[in-house]
Amino acid sequence: MLLMAGIAAVSPAVAAGFEPIGAAEQVGAMGRGVNVMGYDPQGWKDPSKAKFKDWMFKQIRLAGFSNVRIVLQAFDLMDGENRLPDWWLGRLDDMVQAALDAGLTVVLDEHDFTFCGKHADACREKLDAFWSQVAPHFRDAPNRVLFEILNEPHGDMTPERWNVQLAETLAIIRASNPARNVVIGPGSWNGLEQLPALRLPDDDAHIIVTVHYYHPMAFTHRGASWVEATKNLHDIHWGSANDLALMQSELDRVKAWSVATGRPIFLGEFGAFDPGPLPDRVSWTAAVARGAEARGFAWAYWYFDGGFGVFDVDQCRWIEPILGALIPQ
Ligand code: BGC
Repeated sequence: MLLMAGIAAVSPAVAAGFEPIGAAEQVGAMGRGVNVMGYDPQGWKDPSKAKFKDWMFKQIRLAGFSNVRIVLQAFDLMDGENRLPDWWLGRLDDMVQAALDAGLTVVLDEHDFTFCGKHADACREKLDAFWSQVAPHFRDAPNRVLFEILNEPHGDMTPERWNVQLAETLAIIRASNPARNVVIGPGSWNGLEQLPALRLPDDDAHIIVTVHYYHPMAFTHRGASWVEATKNLHDIHWGSANDLALMQSELDRVKAWSVATGRPIFLGEFGAFDPGPLPDRVSWTAAVARGAEARGFAWAYWYFDGGFGVFDVDQCRWIEPILGALIPQ
């Protein structure tokens, strides 16, 4: 395995001094957020071509959000020795600094989960190499920068294997960032059902646990081309008393686990895909957001733009019904 702690230079841009903050206190400050910057390889290389512009962080903050989860897909950019390009780290510095300047908390989410779901051995090498470089790079960054080890482990990265992997990668992060809060979710797509199987080091209090919520998939992913089971579904509605009761009971399960383990919760993704009735999407979105808040979870909506979007990048305007569901006036 390649371990390269110390090779990447400490970020010159984002080095404002780190003060430890408790995991629960951090979740309280993170509040409401949104996922940004994934699936845009051209935009990462050339900011002028990016769908997401750095000034949008300010708009996000002004709209009432207080965190962003930056979706990082860096494995493809690594060289033969799993080194990240300097230009990429420089671009990341700019993004992180712009988000911090806007007053946001920033979650750096390694999002090569499709690769990891197919090739757990190769994922181990790349994931450990990624954090061996990114963690020391941000060692001095303010505590509003958090690391999320890996989005939605699944497939070949089984829940058992994930428990071993997360401990290994966390130890790599801890070598340079002993007290930064790290976000870790359960195996099987960060599904709440897997929380009881998640194994975290007892002696590490600086962990925030994340889950993703897309239930029921038939509603949130109807017509979504990338989900075999739901891609041909249309005209699926949500909003009955039973629907709502089921959602509340699932969020209650997360809360009960959180209370029992003392681990605070970040609901790092939830959203409903576009080709469905907007009123139902709005009520589903509002119900998840308010349900999370009532239980003391921080959250980040999936996604800023595109099929789940809360912002129309072409028209440069918020999609008001979804924004209103997330941030009630
Ligand atoms: C994936 C996206 C997907 C979303 C909802 C995310 O974790 O990265 O590709 O659209 O989940 O399915």
